[in-house]
Amino acid sequence: MAEQKATNVHWHEGDITREHRAKLLGHKGATLWFTGLSGSGKSTVAVELEGRLSEMGILAYRLDGDNVRMGINKNLGFSAEDRTENIRRIGEVAKLFVDAGVIALSSFISPYAADRDQVRDLHEAAGMDFIEIFVDCSLEAAEARDPKGLYKKARAGEIKNFTGIDDPYEAPAKPELHLHSDQQSLDEEVDAILALLRERGIIAA
Ligand code: ADX
Repeated sequence: MAEQKATNVHWHEGDITREHRAKLLGHKGATLWFTGLSGSGKSTVAVELEGRLSEMGILAYRLDGDNVRMGINKNLGFSAEDRTENIRRIGEVAKLFVDAGVIALSSFISPYAADRDQVRDLHEAAGMDFIEIFVDCSLEAAEARDPKGLYKKARAGEIKNFTGIDDPYEAPAKPELHLHSDQQSLDEEVDAILALLRERGIIAA
């Protein structure tokens, strides 16, 4: 848990509630937390899903590893401590999006189960849906894809602490959804997510 440094601060409730906003938009907000190795396809699924939701008139917004690390988290690297802080901040940002009524699609390796669980607790304590989606892909398949050429660099020792090579990845024990991106098609993956969102009453059946 990050230390609360500011004292004498209080949460201020406005007049417009989350329920109001859900009515306005016609769907609930929720965080869909994609986790998996670099190159597993987290961002690819999130982009496709965002497009499908948009066609259905549903507002989603992607929070993506590389993008966020160029902005709000530009001061963080890949030590265990920095990865934890990366995920903590993203968790808070995702929660704000959910409060606004948006479906937040968060794609980060988020290798540590405890960090993901903390984001889950943050959401569930506020009565928000947190849906953990494990984008499972063998290291061999992710490495064969190597879309950014980073596995090659990690194998050559040019990048240290690379997840899956010389840094750990803790797979989720009980994700809400377990995708196999090295076996399923993109359409199958997106259909499975949409089915879950309907089942949970986040979007209309
Ligand atoms: S996380 O571990 O803190 O969740 P995040 O998803 O934000 O990671 O960033 C991962 C992306 O950063 C990877 O897809 C890759 O492009 C890049 N990257 C650079 N160095 C590393 C590294 N040492 N380990 C993993 N990813 C890295």
